[in-house]
Amino acid sequence: MQIIEVKDYEEMSLKAAQYILNKVKNKNKMVLGLATGSTPQGLYSHLAWDHQKNNTSYTNVTSFNLDEYIGIPPSDPTSYFYYMYERFFSHIDRVNENAHIPNGLASDLDEECKRYEHLIQVAGGIDLQVLGIGRNGHIGFNEPGTSFESPTHVVELTNSTRQANARYFDTIEKVPTHAITMGIKTILKSREILLLASGESKQNALVHLITGEITEQFPASALKHHSNTTVIADEVALHGVKQLHPR
Ligand code: F6R
Repeated sequence: MQIIEVKDYEEMSLKAAQYILNKVKNKNKMVLGLATGSTPQGLYSHLAWDHQKNNTSYTNVTSFNLDEYIGIPPSDPTSYFYYMYERFFSHIDRVNENAHIPNGLASDLDEECKRYEHLIQVAGGIDLQVLGIGRNGHIGFNEPGTSFESPTHVVELTNSTRQANARYFDTIEKVPTHAITMGIKTILKSREILLLASGESKQNALVHLITGEITEQFPASALKHHSNTTVIADEVALHGVKQLHPR
């Protein structure tokens, strides 16, 4: 696992954007895995800005988002579908059919999970998967205890995750209880992984990720089984790690 330390959120976002742009520009065809949440917002702003300025084209890019809430329509500002269109997709020249997000309104959710997994396979697998990390170590919505062998599946969100995401909703009761997420196995099949982390709230998670044991109780530790993972994290997020291993 390669760790790149940056000064702050802005530098993390810029570095991540450069990392992705380098691949988007140099590959004829690319499959990109995308995340939502507060961490990649700056990354999407940079990519949108770059498209406006340099006209970087995304017509060669197929994307798969990690996850979506169950029961929230795409038109609802709290859905991940809305998030992606608002912050990224509406600002670039993507091909509509090439931008995939799990359908949290599907009548048969298990079938939807299989369909999503199949679509990723048909696209040839994910070249580069962008990840954030939850305070409890979740990646996607794979909560502690999720099998490392899990494919795309339906999850029940933990209280800590619902509370962390409550800021986007009027009340905690409105935070969905379930979501569809790519599984840990799906994520690990990506040829390359880029995990972003910024701020104090991620300190403990990074200590566990970088120095802790591999355990299903800490889903992100599965990334230690992956041979091409890069972490871009800012000084504050890495503070705990640096106290354990001062240079
Ligand atoms: C979002 C996702 C989640 C977030 C994680 C961190 O698609 O899959 O795993 O990456 O909850 O969220 P933020 O970035 O809001 O701290």
